[in-house]
Amino acid sequence: MNAIKHLISIKRLTTETLFNEIIPACINMVPQTISAKATTPNHSLKAVLYFDEDSTRTRMSFAEAIRLLGWDMAQETLACNSRNKKESWLDTLMMWYNYNAKIICARTHQEGVHLWLAEMVEKYNLNMSIINAGDGRNQHPTQTILDLVTIQNKLGRLDDFKIGFVGDLLKSRTTHSLLDALRMRNNISIVCVAPDNVCLPAYHAEGFSNFTQGSDMELLHDCDIINSVRWQAERLEPNSHEFLAFLRIKQKYQINKNLLERLKKGVIIMHALPIDQEVEEICHDIMDDPRVIPYQQAWFGVPSRMAILQIVSQNLTQHISFNHTRNAVIRELKKSSLSEALSATSRKQHDHFVPLEHGMVIDHLEPGSGIIIRMMLKRMEGIKDGIMIVENTKPHKDMLVIKENFLTNDSMIRIAGLSPNATFNIMRNEFFRKIKIDQPQQIISGTGKCLNKNCVTRSGEPSISPRFINRGKNSHPFECDYCGQHFTLSEILPLST
Ligand code: MLT
Repeated sequence: MNAIKHLISIKRLTTETLFNEIIPACINMVPQTISAKATTPNHSLKAVLYFDEDSTRTRMSFAEAIRLLGWDMAQETLACNSRNKKESWLDTLMMWYNYNAKIICARTHQEGVHLWLAEMVEKYNLNMSIINAGDGRNQHPTQTILDLVTIQNKLGRLDDFKIGFVGDLLKSRTTHSLLDALRMRNNISIVCVAPDNVCLPAYHAEGFSNFTQGSDMELLHDCDIINSVRWQAERLEPNSHEFLAFLRIKQKYQINKNLLERLKKGVIIMHALPIDQEVEEICHDIMDDPRVIPYQQAWFGVPSRMAILQIVSQNLTQHISFNHTRNAVIRELKKSSLSEALSATSRKQHDHFVPLEHGMVIDHLEPGSGIIIRMMLKRMEGIKDGIMIVENTKPHKDMLVIKENFLTNDSMIRIAGLSPNATFNIMRNEFFRKIKIDQPQQIISGTGKCLNKNCVTRSGEPSISPRFINRGKNSHPFECDYCGQHFTLSEILPLST
């Protein structure tokens, strides 16, 4: 089992860790939470709560969890922290370390900064833990854990149910994290109801065999659970047109008495809170209905955060590696004399590389990727001339013909990371070789740009080189390792930059 030292995102936990270790530990903390009695003080553990976005429940329940565990605590907001005077993240982290903070629970507007902080903890061997208490629109893993504990408590199971999400799903970190956890379970049906401009990008559906998205509240009629989600107005410009337009149609997405009566018997209505008074995602006159459980849900924040804090505190001396590199294997598919290979290819009428006797043909590139890879080769490998693109052949693929030049193994591995089916045909010294890269690097680093303006890689401070994981399967396979958003190849490597 992997040691849980940092809690950055749900995606970084294994199914076993989340469901066999963390959730049972949370449930074990319930009796102490009910008793409200603090454990004997333990001054060797100090937690910092750093919140540069507002919070009531997450901050207060962390504070109560720390009190019950008997630890010391310091609370900071942006207003009282020198980050407000443009202090760097690294200096801030070092100061927390100097003053013996062991566990940092941070909520940030920036997306992805927790991963970088955890990388710095490991780089400088600091024996500290980083817990993500919500980063912009990205993740809220401790909320997900308390949501799961609530569902387990109310339904008695974490499999075989239908759950609906309704509201501003695009910007809802609580939704994104919870979906990541539910994807690990069995027989979960997902229904997402949102206005078109704030619905979930399609990649969120991946991993669910039953995933429906639409704007009609009737889609929720047979759900066992409905998760009402707040409109994230603070992520828009003040008085933004988008929010004002939503206020005009807000009633359509409200959970009210009328809707409640039409829903499945025994449904539970959850909400991470706060409820926006202007929008009233859940109408106040039903808050004391036994099916509407956000207050109980928020209560589970205390035992859940106690368990999380305790688990990470036991792993402070572990060294965690964030290195996702795997060893790519260069496999030779064919080797022959050039004349033999050329006569075989002319038989197949691949006339674009018949004349090539000294150079390479990169075949089976994803359609549309040829032009991007050519640009990358020009920019990064200094191959200025002689790269010809053959686009959209049948079957659909791109090819690059490189005259009088040869790629290094590193370049081929990098290209296979962008386009995993690529094959490399090498014509040199009267010989022909065809190469394929097995286990291409999933990680694309040192090139590309994340399109999310709120991603920590775009902030300039800290200065972070972008890093993408090629998830391979969907139409937007390149996931920013920091902010979690998914992109196409041409989005991360636009031709204009
Ligand atoms: C959060 O921190 O994400 C909240 O608890 C939910 C919200 O802000 O709507």
